[in-house]
Amino acid sequence: MKSLYPLLCVVVLASCGGPAQKQYGIDARVDSVLNLMTLEEKIGQLNLPSAGQFTTGAAENSDIAKKIENGQVGGLFNIKRVAAIREMQQIAVEKSRLKIPLIFGMDVIHGYESVFPIPLGLSCSWDMELVERSARIAATEASADGINWTFSPMLDLSRDPRWGRISEGNGEDTYLSSQIAKAMVKGYQGDDLSANNTIMSCVKHFALYGAAEAGRDYNTTDMSRQRMYNEYFPPYKAAVDAGAGSFMASFNEIDGIPATANKWLLTDVLRKEWGFNGFVVSDYTGVSEMIAHGIGDLQTVSARAVDAGLDMDMVSEGLLNTLKKSVEEGKITEKQITEACRRVLKAKFQLGLFDDPYRYCNEERAKAEVFTAANRAEARKAATESFVLLKNEGNILPLKKAGTIAVIGPLANNRENMTGTWSVAARFSESVSVMEGLTKAVGNSAKLVYARGSNLHEDAAIEERATMFGKSLNRDKRSAEEMRSEAVRVARSADVIVAVIGEGAEMSGEASSVTNLELPQTQRELLKALLQTGKPVVVVLFTGRPLVLKWENENLPAMLNVWFGGSEAGDAIADVLFGDVNPSGKLSTTFPQNVGQVPLYYAHKNTGRPLRGPWFQKFQSNYIDVSNDPVYPFGYGLSYTSFIYGDVKLDKSSITPAETLTVSVDVTNTGKYDGAEVVQLYVRDWVGSVTRPVKELKGFKKVMIKAGETKTVTFQLTKEDLSFYNYDLKWVAEPGEFSVLVGGNSSDVKEAKFTLE
Ligand code: BGC
Repeated sequence: MKSLYPLLCVVVLASCGGPAQKQYGIDARVDSVLNLMTLEEKIGQLNLPSAGQFTTGAAENSDIAKKIENGQVGGLFNIKRVAAIREMQQIAVEKSRLKIPLIFGMDVIHGYESVFPIPLGLSCSWDMELVERSARIAATEASADGINWTFSPMLDLSRDPRWGRISEGNGEDTYLSSQIAKAMVKGYQGDDLSANNTIMSCVKHFALYGAAEAGRDYNTTDMSRQRMYNEYFPPYKAAVDAGAGSFMASFNEIDGIPATANKWLLTDVLRKEWGFNGFVVSDYTGVSEMIAHGIGDLQTVSARAVDAGLDMDMVSEGLLNTLKKSVEEGKITEKQITEACRRVLKAKFQLGLFDDPYRYCNEERAKAEVFTAANRAEARKAATESFVLLKNEGNILPLKKAGTIAVIGPLANNRENMTGTWSVAARFSESVSVMEGLTKAVGNSAKLVYARGSNLHEDAAIEERATMFGKSLNRDKRSAEEMRSEAVRVARSADVIVAVIGEGAEMSGEASSVTNLELPQTQRELLKALLQTGKPVVVVLFTGRPLVLKWENENLPAMLNVWFGGSEAGDAIADVLFGDVNPSGKLSTTFPQNVGQVPLYYAHKNTGRPLRGPWFQKFQSNYIDVSNDPVYPFGYGLSYTSFIYGDVKLDKSSITPAETLTVSVDVTNTGKYDGAEVVQLYVRDWVGSVTRPVKELKGFKKVMIKAGETKTVTFQLTKEDLSFYNYDLKWVAEPGEFSVLVGGNSSDVKEAKFTLE
C-alpha cells in the first residue's frame, strides 16, 4: 500500500505563528488529514480500548496491536511506563496506513506517583495555588512517563455521603468547586498543551453523576433545570471557560436519557451554550451500558451517542463495530462521524503528537522527574493543608515529642491505604505510614508503642468488597477481643493514645456506596476500650466521605480528619500532630448527625415553614427525632490558635449593577500560634423571581495571621456574584435586598445588608 506518511509530515510540520494562526494552522492540518481518511479510519479514531494493565470492568481487548495496525484505535488507557507506551505508539505510526499517533490516557486523579490527597481532601485546603500546583506536578510526572491525557478533574457536585465517589470530587459547593475546576485545568494543561510536560484534562462525569438517587452508584439522577444550572452545572462550565480539552459523559441518565446519548446535554448545553470545542469521550462501557438502560441495541445506542455529540467510545467498541452500518442505513451521516473524528484529531494536534508522536516518551525524563523528593515534599505540604481539625478539647493537640505515645488502630501501620481511592499510578508499598511518619518525627525524644487494635470492619465480606487495584487489607485472624485487649495493654503503658482509624482506601470511591455512615462497630468498640484506660485519646481519622461522627464528637477529646493524604500521609500527619504545621483545613461538605438527614447541605432553600426558634416546632420543617443541625457544618475546621471576627463593613449601603461593593472584616488571631484562616463570604438574596438559597458562598481568602495580629480581609462583590439563572434559565441579577455573611464556617457568620438598585 502506498505510504502517505511523507504527505502527512508535510502537512503537520507546516510552521505556525501566534495563537490565532496556530489555531488556524491546526484546523487546516486536521482537514488535510481528514481528506486522506476512509470512513473506517475515521471510525477507528473514535475507539478507545483499555490496554488492560489496570481494568475497572470486564473489557475484552485482545489483540489490540492488530487493531492499531488496522487503524481501528484512536487512543489507549490503562497503560503505564514509557516502554509500553512507546511500543504501542510505534505500531500506530509505523504500521497503520495513515500513521496517526495514539493519545494515551490515564486516571491521574490526585497525583501520579507522588500522590496528593484525594480530591475531597484537597478541596478542604481552600488553597487554589496549591490545587493548581498539585495538578501541575501530576502533569509533569505523568507526561514524563508517556501519558498525555488525564481523566480529571471530577467536578460532580455531591451532597450525598452514601455515594462512594464523593471522595473523588470537591464536595457540596458550587462556587468552591468552580474555583477548583479552573485551578485543576490550568495545572494540567498549562499555557501550552503541546509542551512535553503538560497534559490534556478530561472533565468528568458530565453530568450530575454526584446526584445518583439514594447515593447508589450508577443510579438514576433526576433534577430540575433550575438546580442543574444554578448548583450542579457551574463547575463543569468553569472548566470549559478555563479551556479544558475534553469531557467525559457520565453513566447516569438525565431526564430519561443516558448522558452518553443525551443531545440536549452534550450538544445544546456543552457545545452551543458554553462554547466547548474539544472532544467528548464516554465513560467505561458507557455506550454499551445503554442497552441495559433500555434505549436500544448496540447499533442503536452507538448511533444515538454520536448523534448526541459523543466523539469517543471507551471500551464498548460499539462505535467501531456498528457506525458504518448505521451510515449505510441512513441512521447517521458520514459528516457526523467526520466531525467526531475532527475533534479527536484536533486534540492530537494540540498535544503536538503529529509533530512528534514520542514527545511524551522520554526515559530520561521519567527517571528524573517522577516521584522526586521535591514533588513528594509538595505532596506532604498539600496533605497538611487538607487535614481538618474537628475537635481539640483542652488543647490536647499539638502533642509533645516526649514520653510514651501509643499508636493504635487498623490504619496506623499501613502503607497501602495512605493514598486513597483512584491512585492507579501510586507506589503503594513506598507510601509513608503513620507509624513511620511519627517515628521519624520523634527521633529519640519520645517512645512509640503500637498495636493494631481491630480490623477495619467486623464483617470480612464488607472488607473484601472494598478492595481494588491490588490493595490488601491484610485482615488479622485474631478475634476482636484479643486484638482489643492487646491494644489496651499497650495503651496503658503510654501517656497519650493516637487512635488511627476510619475507612480503608477503597471503602469510598467507585462502586463503594454505603447505607451506613457510622464507623464500623469493631472500631467503635476499640475507641470505647481506649477511652476506658483514662488516657487522652486523639483520633486520626481516615475517610473518603463525611461520616456520622455524633458519638465520636460527644466522647472523644480530639479528632483530626486526614482523609487519605497521599503517598506522604504519614509524614504530614506527624507534622500536624506535633504542631510543626498548624492545621487550617475547612470542610467542603457537611457532616450529618445520621444518614437519615442526607442530603444535608448549607445552601438549602428556606421553605415556607423554616424552623423558627429552637428545635422542635410542630408544623415547621424539622424532624421529631433529630434536629436539622449537622455535627460539623460546611466550612468548619479548627486551628491550634483561635480567630475572632470583627463586624462586616461595607463601603456602600446600595450599589447599581455597574458598581462594585467592597466588603471588609478584621480577623484577629487571639491564640498562641501563628495560623492560616479561611475567611468565607456568603451572600443571601432575600427576594427573587424564583426562590434563592439561605446562603451561597461567593468568595473566600486563606490568610496567614500571626499570633496576636489583626488582618483586614477585603472582598469585592459585583453584579456577577449576585446573579443566578432565573426560571427561563437567563443569567440575571435582580434588584433588592441582599445580606453579606462573613465567617470562619457556614454556620458562624456576621452579617451586613445592602441593596442592589
Ligand atoms: C470511571 C471513570 C474512569 C474510567 C477509566 C470508570 O469506571 O467511572 O471515572 O475515568 O473508569 O478508568
